[in-house]
Amino acid sequence: MKLLAGAPGWTVKADVIVIGSGVAGLTAALNLRAHNLSVLLVTKAKIDEGSTKWAQGGIAAALGPGDSPEDHKRDTLIAGAGLCDVPAVDVLVTEGPEAVRKLIAHGAEFDKSETGEIALTREGGHLRNRILHAGGDATGAEVSRALLAAVKQDNGIEIIENALAIDVLKGKSGAVCGVTLHVIGAGTIDGIGRALARSVVIATGGLGQVYSQTTNPSVSTGDGVALALRAGAEIEDVEFIQFHPTVLWRDESNKGQQPLISEAVRGEGAILLNDKGERFMVGVHPQSDLAPRDIVAKEIFKQMKEHNTPHVWLDATKVKDFKDRFPTIYQSCMENGIDPTRQLIPVSPASHYASGGVKVDLNGLTSVKNLYACGETACTGAHGANRLASNSLLEGLVFGTRIAETIAKNISPQEEPVEDRSPTFLADSSIKMPLQLAMSQGAGVMRSEKSLNETLALLEKLGTHQSNSPRIENWETSNLYQLATAIVKAALIRKETRGSHWRSDFPESHTNWQKHIIQSLNDQGIWSEREEVVKDGA
Ligand code: FAD
Ligand code: SIN
Repeated sequence: MKLLAGAPGWTVKADVIVIGSGVAGLTAALNLRAHNLSVLLVTKAKIDEGSTKWAQGGIAAALGPGDSPEDHKRDTLIAGAGLCDVPAVDVLVTEGPEAVRKLIAHGAEFDKSETGEIALTREGGHLRNRILHAGGDATGAEVSRALLAAVKQDNGIEIIENALAIDVLKGKSGAVCGVTLHVIGAGTIDGIGRALARSVVIATGGLGQVYSQTTNPSVSTGDGVALALRAGAEIEDVEFIQFHPTVLWRDESNKGQQPLISEAVRGEGAILLNDKGERFMVGVHPQSDLAPRDIVAKEIFKQMKEHNTPHVWLDATKVKDFKDRFPTIYQSCMENGIDPTRQLIPVSPASHYASGGVKVDLNGLTSVKNLYACGETACTGAHGANRLASNSLLEGLVFGTRIAETIAKNISPQEEPVEDRSPTFLADSSIKMPLQLAMSQGAGVMRSEKSLNETLALLEKLGTHQSNSPRIENWETSNLYQLATAIVKAALIRKETRGSHWRSDFPESHTNWQKHIIQSLNDQGIWSEREEVVKDGA
């Protein structure tokens, strides 16, 4: 199955194509250069667009005195609620410190304490202060700046901006040998073209835009996961959508990207209050306001229902030097008429992170030859049912490096693409908003068989609104449509509550559900599902 698109009018070539210019794509590109492979880096908007530059809290790594990868592993496994693949967590926490040191060597500057050491803070689910941050709450911007500076210096990396990857190209052997691209450019590289390569790395980030309110930027339409699905690759655990508990609540009519109030604000002493001014996290979990994210989001949702309010409150008035420690958050609160040093901040959960994604092995390889996935797009198994705070930037750094090493070792000759005669699909962009609303309503923080079946029925109806006009909005909407369908189907299959998957009709976790749900789509657009037991590392 492929998206409806015109015939390619031009061809470009490189050893490896990297799709996406966030922490994952940039890290993979830089490390591929260390192996002397030529890289074509394509990115669908400006090069710094994507979730990475919005990251606030920081990067988790066991670098502080008394901390260890073992301790980081313990916290990651607890947050992951029994669904983390232990070998993937081991890779993340043991290779994490070195990956962060390499980032520092690339010029990333992290905030320092008064004694000149890297300052470490805490976020939900961490039992130690192990979060490095930059510019107070502008960690992602600094990570992006440092990696981009290094990438731009390298003549072996060709960058094409405003280049949307549509589908993969495959050779006679069935292996991936390139992608179709739509470029809004100039001269010869404009419109639809073919980019050919010996390996392709998908690093297209998250899919927050499947929901009507999200912390994710507008580019986060899950293109890479949908593209991988259409290429025949397996996807894993997509029902685990993480809802960030503390997103600035403005009003119901605000759709799309919403301002985040970092968990680090609670790490520095802020507390959650209900409409009666009562603390409600104390007694719910030993870490109270700093419990893992899924637990806090659920409790907020319960409080909102009980008090019939659209939000709860975050009291950050006692946080020391708020304006200097959290300049971005201070500014976005002030722009919305709230002075966080004196007033309570209205917050509610919004879609934030896809813990699942394209199923990959420990080297980022998908189930399709020569196709790799990295960063939020991928499911390495390290996050389980709920990603631990600040483990995402780290995952991009660690697995971006591993992918490059693996590609360098296994690079195959360039194949010529064969014609793909499978059926085409193109959703009309008019269904985007109803789709997002339906997903928030029926497949959001809390789901049930009834709400999911209603959502699926509505999606089926929306899917009949096809377009014959290949353009960006329709391609993106098609990707959102396929992912929404995958999320709802997986959420229906998982008849339990675990991590960020909360079924009101199955409120308990069951050990017989300690397995991954893996989905795929065949050439004709027919879905298959299978289950795989969690890897315990034994
Ligand atoms: P992204 O950074 O999202 O990059 C994806 C890239 O792919 C973009 O360049 C995009 O334009 C491009 N792209 C997408 N589709 C296509 C296509 N079809 N063709 C070509 N290019 C395409 N994580 C942490 O660890 N710590 C934090 O403090 C933190 N804070 C966060 C705060 C916010 C507000 C948000 C939204 C996320 C936060 N996260 C945090 C999560 C983390 O930022 C992301 O998971 C991570 O940055 C993802 O990196 P990535 O490289 O996978 O994707
Ligand atoms: C935050 O700063 O609260 C977000 C951290 C993350 O998503 O890891």
